[in-house]
Amino acid sequence: MPKVTVINQKKDIDVPAGANLREELRKHGIEVYPGTARYVNCFGHGACGTCKIHVKQGMENLSPRSWMEKLNMRFHPLTMLAAIGHEDELRLSCQCTVRGDCSVEVQPEMNLSGDTFWQKPYPNK
Ligand code: FES
Repeated sequence: MPKVTVINQKKDIDVPAGANLREELRKHGIEVYPGTARYVNCFGHGACGTCKIHVKQGMENLSPRSWMEKLNMRFHPLTMLAAIGHEDELRLSCQCTVRGDCSVEVQPEMNLSGDTFWQKPYPNK
């Protein structure tokens, strides 16, 4: 069983291979949504961008970005802003299938400090 480490909540959870990351985090009592987004979200369809996580290790053990996730990262204003400076580690947890061990941070802060604000918001991948 793959192990998911939630760094900023100091929790390790075992999840079945092939499981949806958002569902497994919530099953284990880990809130992926900030504030009122826990009540108002797209229920895992990749449209709202509120279930963002930073993948610190094991990105290769998660499914590749879905077309909905790529669309969200390119056109949803809040996801685009959140990706600045975190282009390679930002994922939508509802669009991730767990295939092996990984370490993540839930509810990551947005970096609007300005030093990376004008960088290209999304990598060419
Ligand atoms: S739940 Fe809306 S994008 Fe993941």
